[in-house]
Amino acid sequence: MVTASAPGKIILFGEHAVVYGQPALAVPVSQLRATATITSPPYPPVLNAKEPRAGQGEIWIEAHNLNRTYRLDEAPTHDLLALAIRLTFGHYQLPITNYQLRITLSSNIPLASGVGSGAAICTAIVRALSLHLNSQISNSQISTIVFETEKLLHGTPSGIDNTVIAYEQPVYFIKGRPPEPFTVKQPFHLLIADTGLPSPTKITVGEVRAAWQNEPERYDALFLAVGKIANVARAHIENGEPEALGPLMNRNHILLRKMGVSCAELDALIDAALGAGALGAKLSGGGRGGNMIALVTTETQNRVQATLEQAGAKRVISTTITHNQ
Ligand code: PMV
Repeated sequence: MVTASAPGKIILFGEHAVVYGQPALAVPVSQLRATATITSPPYPPVLNAKEPRAGQGEIWIEAHNLNRTYRLDEAPTHDLLALAIRLTFGHYQLPITNYQLRITLSSNIPLASGVGSGAAICTAIVRALSLHLNSQISNSQISTIVFETEKLLHGTPSGIDNTVIAYEQPVYFIKGRPPEPFTVKQPFHLLIADTGLPSPTKITVGEVRAAWQNEPERYDALFLAVGKIANVARAHIENGEPEALGPLMNRNHILLRKMGVSCAELDALIDAALGAGALGAKLSGGGRGGNMIALVTTETQNRVQATLEQAGAKRVISTTITHNQ
């Protein structure tokens, strides 16, 4: 039996603009994790009739969070988990039909909430299969495989999610370029608050594309302004000036609102966090639901967290951004 896991992620600056070539900053969140466990026969004793058992050359997928157990060869063509498995066997040029495996998946990362659930579960699958097959795989190769699964989820992804999750370190990302890890000179604290509204990234990314096609100059200017913020933010993080990130987060959020990807629930959480003393706050990820992030200090953290919960956040996670997450 082998097990591997992968973290969730948040985008600090630059979502959506990153799809159009602007830089973005993302960090892994290790409290949020997806895990894949691979078992090969003989399996533990069957306790109930519904327990999946592999026969000749059968791969079973047991997706706990989705409450689904199914055979790989019966998976629909758009199945993300099946695609990650097939791509990994393809990477190693191994005949998938010869393998008898059970792949058990679990995750505490909310789905469709801008925190990288899809990329994390696929990364965990690729890592666990590589371990099972006793084969080396680099972070860059994992990221390339998971990028293909992201296309299924996102349509036209920038590649930032698969990159930050496969490398599991803070990254400065520009689409099509190798990721640049960046240094966090002084750790800082963020609260990640979930609106509880699932919002598939494919929809928001598609709508921003349609809006950009309609008003290219206006949207290009918004993307450029976001990219400038990401560059300034990186410098502050590398210089150990995290408090300077607050106003930049607020400005980035205003630009995201102008792109049309915020919503009343996100704006309410952001206003609540700022009212309770957060240094800055913005939506994180695709928007229209999902999560927001707030920059706090050890003094303001508890008050901001309580205020976010009162304002309707379904879950608030506290995380410290450091160089080695
Ligand atoms: O998966 P999410 O919701 O964190 O969105 C990823 C960020 C976007 O910039 C909106 C899309 C992309 O592919 O970069």
